Amino acid sequence: MNIFEKINSSTELTRDDLKEILSLENDSDLERLFNAAYEVKTKYVGRKVYLRGLIEISNICSKDCYYCGIRRGNTKVHRYMMADDDVIAGAKLADKLNLGSIVLQGGEISSDDFTLKIENILKRIRIETGDRLGITLSLGEQSEATYRRWFEAGAHRYLLRIEASNKELYGRLHPQDHSWDERYACLKRLQKVGYQTGTGTMSGLPHQTDDDLVSDLIFFKENDIDMIGMGPYLVHEDTPLAKDFPDFEDKREIQLKRGLKMIAAARIFLKDVNIASTTALQALRNDGRELGLLAGANIIMPNISLAKYKVNYNLYEGKPGLDDGPGESLEKLVGSIESIGESVAFGQWGDPRHFFARKEK
Ligand code: 5AD
Repeated sequence: MNIFEKINSSTELTRDDLKEILSLENDSDLERLFNAAYEVKTKYVGRKVYLRGLIEISNICSKDCYYCGIRRGNTKVHRYMMADDDVIAGAKLADKLNLGSIVLQGGEISSDDFTLKIENILKRIRIETGDRLGITLSLGEQSEATYRRWFEAGAHRYLLRIEASNKELYGRLHPQDHSWDERYACLKRLQKVGYQTGTGTMSGLPHQTDDDLVSDLIFFKENDIDMIGMGPYLVHEDTPLAKDFPDFEDKREIQLKRGLKMIAAARIFLKDVNIASTTALQALRNDGRELGLLAGANIIMPNISLAKYKVNYNLYEGKPGLDDGPGESLEKLVGSIESIGESVAFGQWGDPRHFFARKEK
């Protein structure tokens, strides 16, 4: 059986199969791969795109990840924390635009004040938007008690990328005091508390091999992950990892291709999960997110943060949409989603099917 026959059969893909998928290079093989992934997507989650309005609530971060533009050590960043009213206004806008759900994302802060602030914001959003919005948090590693308080206040999904499933690689991307084990424990905590749990990794990182990427996919499966957010690594000049990728500008096409192959492989391997087509793809090519949808993703997170905040939330260089007002970019986005034969599931939460399957186990 060749790899495409294997993909179409009902046999579970092995490590070697996944590696072969990632090694596909020529255009006709890639087209076959993306088509196969698109078929799996159509069968398991349909051709609807679910939107999550992304609100970047703060770029203050206690972490010092070597790749990230808002790392603690980057003194060039102007730090901000959105006022509660601005976050609520963002949620109301998402409701008005009928996005169905929102993501509150921010740098990692662990303090009683911050826990309380988020708790209050969640309660207010639910009241002030008539409980219509699905609410996802992406606020880093926290204690079980904090996760529980936020869950009880109304959040029901949480994104925490493991960044690299290989501990040794993780160790090369983070300072010594960043613990892979603790991050992993957080994912388990989130599942225990009852969140629909999302994780993900970056692809095309310096020091990363295809074996590492295959391990990422197996990690998602073994840990029963409901939602995947993966994206290609993009260099940020003011970070230590930039020096390990001096020829990044020549490799943008390769980074994009690899990111798309990871989405396709994840869809084929994991089937009923939600997979985001991330902004990092769009940073590499204008229509990168549409390509992600065609390779198997079913979620897009349009950024609805106010421009005055958005410009300071630069995880990497070339972040797209900085000049767009939220309504304007949404109109463009919907048009381009429809132009590839998909439709936007306005007003729906778009819960991952995998979550309910996991609960029934
Ligand atoms: N390139 C791509 N993705 C990045 N992230 C942070 N820095 C970069 C970068 N330079 C991703 C991380 C993080 C998410 C919010 O953004 O995976 O979890």
